[in-house]
Amino acid sequence: MKFFIDTANLEQIKEAQALGILDGVTTNPSLMAKEGITGEANIINHYKEICNLVEGDVSAEVISTDFDGMVKEGEALAALNPQIVVKLPMIKDGVKACKYFSSKGIKTNVTLVFSAGQALLAAKAGATYVSPFIGRLDDISTDGMNLIKEIRLIYDNYGFETEILAASVRNTMHIINCAKLGADVMTGPLSAIEGLLKHPLTDSGLATFLADYKKGN
Ligand code: E4P
Repeated sequence: MKFFIDTANLEQIKEAQALGILDGVTTNPSLMAKEGITGEANIINHYKEICNLVEGDVSAEVISTDFDGMVKEGEALAALNPQIVVKLPMIKDGVKACKYFSSKGIKTNVTLVFSAGQALLAAKAGATYVSPFIGRLDDISTDGMNLIKEIRLIYDNYGFETEILAASVRNTMHIINCAKLGADVMTGPLSAIEGLLKHPLTDSGLATFLADYKKGN
């Protein structure tokens, strides 16, 4: 399972990278705004900085909602660095743009996916990644994990190569459950990733080992 961090915060990206488990980064316009990154030139520079920090894929989302605009923006983003994955919304023109980019060998991430049907369309359009938003489904009392299960079944039935990128991951159990269901990738905050480290028996066990070592030395 690949681990992406879902942030535009450079310090958090560095911290996850230093842990040695990071496979990539996802961003979106809200995450950029949260870091105060506004204006085209600053956004472009920020993507370049992120690409310099990590080795893997970096999803960069288009703002346009029409095919021509998405193609223009996506091509400019893809030209920044081979690590860039063009992130496209799951709307009609987004699907068309996904097909356009995939036929040119440019990596894509179809985002804002909330149903198995949308995920099927993304795969048909040759998406590199599909991003089902599990946390946002949970927010409206719908089982986000069930969507991962459905997409896994459909993709396996037909051998689609599109990778299931579980997005809107909010906590550590989301990561574990996505791993159980066979999501190819998860993208989440640093807090959820670091949550995987924690167990009280590890802490108490280590404290005992260190105390016993001190007794004998
Ligand atoms: C996905 O790529 C999105 O950036 C993200 O996972 C959305 O998460 P949220 O629902 O916590 O905003």
